[in-house]
Amino acid sequence: MGQTHMKVIVFLGSVRESTPPRPARLGARVAAAMARLLEGAEVDVEVIDPLDLDLPTVFKPHFAYSAGKAPVAMQRLAEKIEAADCYVMVSPEYNHSMSPALANLLNHFASSSFAFKPSAIVTYSAGQWGGARASVNMRTYLSELGCLPVSAMIYIPHAQDVFEEDGSFGADADVAEWESYFGRTLEQMFWWSKAAKAQRAHGLPTKAFGRDPSQRNAPLK
Ligand SMILES: Cc1cc2nc3c(=O)[nH]c(=O)nc-3n(C[C@H](O)[C@H](O)[C@H](O)COP(=O)(O)O)c2cc1C
Repeated sequence: MGQTHMKVIVFLGSVRESTPPRPARLGARVAAAMARLLEGAEVDVEVIDPLDLDLPTVFKPHFAYSAGKAPVAMQRLAEKIEAADCYVMVSPEYNHSMSPALANLLNHFASSSFAFKPSAIVTYSAGQWGGARASVNMRTYLSELGCLPVSAMIYIPHAQDVFEEDGSFGADADVAEWESYFGRTLEQMFWWSKAAKAQRAHGLPTKAFGRDPSQRNAPLK
């Protein structure tokens, strides 16, 4: 594919340790697989794992700190989000919804950091539906966050059979079929990413962001 200088962040949306349900943290292998595919497309890729971040347990978003005063881990991630061209959001389906761990992580950062860049939704499950129901509410969530998801979404049922722990394909996986399926979504994301980057160079809409969340989407008085 060859996407020179494109920076992609893969967000790993699981922090689950429990077994059962087995295997724990299926998301780690899905994120690793996405990273491997993206590396094959010659983009700069980084996986953000919430377990590696030392974020405060009491919720306080990055933009609520005075400039430069946010915890170091949060500040670093805010800079990476700003610098990225697009995002791959990897989420399990919990009770037909997106992962609360992923939402909690993303909620720390302002929509202005993600906005006017595309995202790709990747959901998975241990069972047969591949997180399809979670993906629907992820569209709403990511649209509000400003990184509009591309139309082709990735669902991975029985992810424990599709991928090994290191993110390589399982012995019985139809590799060509899966790669073609994943490639469709990534190609859309790359297309939008290049288009958005070119357009961002001309500036952003003047009324892109209200200072207060209550101002968002409100009809004008
Ligand atoms: C709290 C919870 C809720 C779940 N809800 C769903 C669900 O709605 N649909 C589904 O297909 N699987 C569901 N599962 C099973 C997950 O697909 C499976 O546990 C998967 O491994 C979760 O990803 P993770 O290991 O990365 O946390 C649920 C699992 C948990 C722990």
